[in-house]
Amino acid sequence: MSRADDTLAAGLAELAAAGRSRRRRTVAARQHGGVRVSVEGRECIAFCSNDYLALADHPRVVEAFCAAARRWGVGSGASHLVSGHDTEHATLEEELAEFVARPRALLFSTGYMANLAVATVLAGRGDHVLEDRLNHASLLDAGLATGARFARFRHGDVVALQGRLARLEGQTRKLVMSDGVFSMDGDVAPLRELADACRHSGAQLLVDDAHGFGVLGATGAGSVQEAQLGLVDVPILMCTLGKAAGTFGAFVAGSATLIETLLQRARTYIYTTALPPAVAAASRVSLQLMRDEPWRRTRTLENAARFRAGVAALGLRAMPSRTPIQPLLVGAEAAAVALSEALFELGFWVPAIRPPTVPAGTSRLRFTFSAAHSAEDVDRLLDALALLRQRGSFPEPEAP
Ligand SMILES: Cc1ncc(COP(=O)(O)O)c(C=O)c1O
Repeated sequence: MSRADDTLAAGLAELAAAGRSRRRRTVAARQHGGVRVSVEGRECIAFCSNDYLALADHPRVVEAFCAAARRWGVGSGASHLVSGHDTEHATLEEELAEFVARPRALLFSTGYMANLAVATVLAGRGDHVLEDRLNHASLLDAGLATGARFARFRHGDVVALQGRLARLEGQTRKLVMSDGVFSMDGDVAPLRELADACRHSGAQLLVDDAHGFGVLGATGAGSVQEAQLGLVDVPILMCTLGKAAGTFGAFVAGSATLIETLLQRARTYIYTTALPPAVAAASRVSLQLMRDEPWRRTRTLENAARFRAGVAALGLRAMPSRTPIQPLLVGAEAAAVALSEALFELGFWVPAIRPPTVPAGTSRLRFTFSAAHSAEDVDRLLDALALLRQRGSFPEPEAP
C-alpha cells in the first residue's frame, strides 16, 4: 500500500472502530412501486424509499422514458447552454413552473447542484447565509461554498433567526435557507414565520422542498403551497424530481429574473451535462399523474398516519411528523443499527440514521411511506415493532 493509502486505511479503521462505517445493500429486484424488494437473498418490504407516490415504475412513466430514449438517444450529449437542451427539457420547465405557480423554472441535474447554484449565485464574500441547523447536507454545503459569513440557527426557531437578522440590519445581501420538510425528521418548517422574518429584514429565502413536492398542498405543489405562500413570500423554491416524481433531477422555480440569473451564472448549471431528455420526458408524465391522481398523496399520508397511530399505541418514541417521513428516536447509534438489522431479519428494510447525518444521541430508525404500501404492510411492520419491543430491543427512554 502507498503512504497515501495507509493514511486512508487508518481513517477507515477509525470510522469502523467508532461504529460509523456505512455499507450499501445491493438490490436484486424491485417491484410493486418499489416496496417489494429482493436484497441479499431476502424478500422484504421496503420502508426506505423516497418514491412516495410510487411513480418510479409506473408503466406510463416507464413508457415515456423508453419512447424518448428511442427518439432522442440516452445521453443529452452536452450541457444545456451548448446543445443539450431540447424540447423535452424546455416543455418540462414550463410545466414545472405552472405546477408550482411560479413564473419560470430551471432544471438541474440534481438537487445538490441546484442548491449549490442558488447559494453561490446569491451570496458571496461579505454576504450572510443563515440556515436551519437541521437542513439537508446539500444546503449546508452550499452555504459553506459561498464564502459568505455562515451561521446556523436552532431548528425551527424563527425568533432566533429574527434576532440574527436584526443584528445584520443594513448589511448587504442575506440569504436564508431551509428545508420545507426536514429530510431526517419529517417535520415541516414554520414557513409563514420564516417568510415574514425574511421579508421584514430584506433577506432572500430559499425553501428546499425535496420532500414536500408532490406530497403536500392542495394540488401536490408542496409545503409552500400548503402554507398558502406565494412568490413574494418564498422567492426561491427548489424541488427535486428523484423523490415523489419518481424520476431524477431537480428544479429551481422563481421570478424570470432569478431564473435567468441562475442560467447565466450558476456554475453547476453551466458546466455539466444536461439531464437525459428521456428523464425529462418521464418527469412530464409523472407530473401529469400527480395532477390526475391525488389519491396517491392521500394514500401515502394515510399510511404514515396509520403507522404513527400504531407506534403511539406501542409507546415508542415517534418524532412529531405528519409527512411520509416517520422517524422513531432510538438515541444510541449501536441500538439504532441493531434495530435496523433485526427488522431486516424480519423482512422489513428500514435504515438506521446516525451521526454525522443527525446530531449525536439522536440516532433513529427512519421509516418512509409510499402510495404502494397497503394498510396490511403497515400493520405487519407494526407487529414486527411490537415483537422487538417485547424482546426488549428498544432502549428505555432516558429520564428528562
Ligand atoms: C432536502 C433535500 N435536498 C436536496 C437533496 C438532494 O437532491 P438530489 O438527490 O437530487 O441531489 C435531498 C436528497 O437527496 C434532500 O433530501
